[in-house]
Amino acid sequence: MRIHFATSEVFPFVKVGGLGDVAQALPKSLARRGHRVDLFFPRYTGLPAGRTVARLEVAAGRARARFEVADQGDHDGVRYYTVGAAEQRLWDRPEGYVEKNLASFVLFSRALARLAVSPGWRADAVHCNDWHVGHIPAYLRRRGARCRTVLTIHNLAYQGLFPQSLADRLGLTGYGAGNLLAQGIAHADAVTTVSDRYRDETLSPLHGCGLDGLLRSRGEDYTGVLNGVDYDHFHPGADRHLPARYDVGDMAGKAVCKAELQRASGLPVDADVPLIAFVGRLVKQKGVELLLDSIDELAGLEAQFVVVGTGDRFEHAFARAARFYPNIGFHPDSAERVARLAYAGSDMFLAPSEFEPCGLAPLIALRYGSVPVVRRVGGMAQTIVDTGLGLSFPGNDRAQLLGALWEGIERYRAGQGWARLRDRAMRARFTWDEAARRYERLYRPAAVDAAGGKERGR
Ligand code: GLC
Repeated sequence: MRIHFATSEVFPFVKVGGLGDVAQALPKSLARRGHRVDLFFPRYTGLPAGRTVARLEVAAGRARARFEVADQGDHDGVRYYTVGAAEQRLWDRPEGYVEKNLASFVLFSRALARLAVSPGWRADAVHCNDWHVGHIPAYLRRRGARCRTVLTIHNLAYQGLFPQSLADRLGLTGYGAGNLLAQGIAHADAVTTVSDRYRDETLSPLHGCGLDGLLRSRGEDYTGVLNGVDYDHFHPGADRHLPARYDVGDMAGKAVCKAELQRASGLPVDADVPLIAFVGRLVKQKGVELLLDSIDELAGLEAQFVVVGTGDRFEHAFARAARFYPNIGFHPDSAERVARLAYAGSDMFLAPSEFEPCGLAPLIALRYGSVPVVRRVGGMAQTIVDTGLGLSFPGNDRAQLLGALWEGIERYRAGQGWARLRDRAMRARFTWDEAARRYERLYRPAAVDAAGGKERGR
């Protein structure tokens, strides 16, 4: 099959969050399975110009853009293309989850939809990710295009919401005119999210972010497909970002990484003290408020804490805590190198998220031998708790968070049992191959399914 993969970010060109990793790894896995995959992302300011291979003019109401599609080379068997306008600045920098540049993304989506049905480019399926490209399924359906569309929700909290005035300017009318993600959910042939557990949660008003009714209406066309980890890429035995490498059975390098992380974080270098890391965007979703509310108690534990991440609203508070407490370190940084050192140098990985569609960071932490301590929500309830691979707590609650950390610290100090827990974590695998197989079935028109009888989704 020929698959177009539409995304706002892809590692290493642009990465804001987990979507960047997914966009790098899933297409690669599909290509390995014999599909032709073309990946499209916006030409943000500062990205290489690439070689222009197509030009097209796109309009949405009174907004217009002259797009250039530029070849950015082959990456693991996947062809990457940036799409940007010649004389217009549509995007300055990747904002990722932030709902900005809405008009630019509508125009971008139309350009991608047009490509999907153009001679020489024609796709069997377009895989759309998050609100940025939620307009593609709606636009293709309205034009009666025959190609399949799959929409994957990586985060339901960001929907691409429009004020009426902008919807008018872009000529968007009808259902979901002012909500790009809702357009995608309503019109894609198949809708997925990144774990079964999060799928179930989003069907209830508590986690449905106002779209639970619409999601319920999609019935069995809305499914969970668990993300994987690219183990070529996240591999402590081969990771060039680390000061020393290690793997199960040869763990000396992990101690070197721990000492380096302690030094880099301004913490006392001590091999025996349990070191607990948090790596993520500093936003409410990630449980950052709970962390800050508990910071005095955390500082009182016999452990060290390292926080890695950016997010303007919270950086100040973490910086202050790191100055004040000798066992707390903070890196206001989103560089891959710092994140890798935190995974490798820590003994435990804390993920207190309020909600979590999949939660790639704890899965990556497993591979680096950092035992996850997670809140029992979304994908993490499925991958870390149900499997017994880590420790957990149920509520957005200080006492519960501290209880789970305390248990972790006790078990770490007990020694022998800890090495077993850590080795099990390092051996666990969540591969992309299984996910790729599941998506493959969704890319195929329903009419061709063995069961037959079912026409194009709805
Ligand atoms: C978003 C979600 C995260 C998920 C990632 C990739 O960042 O918050 O849970 O792992 O997307 O799907």
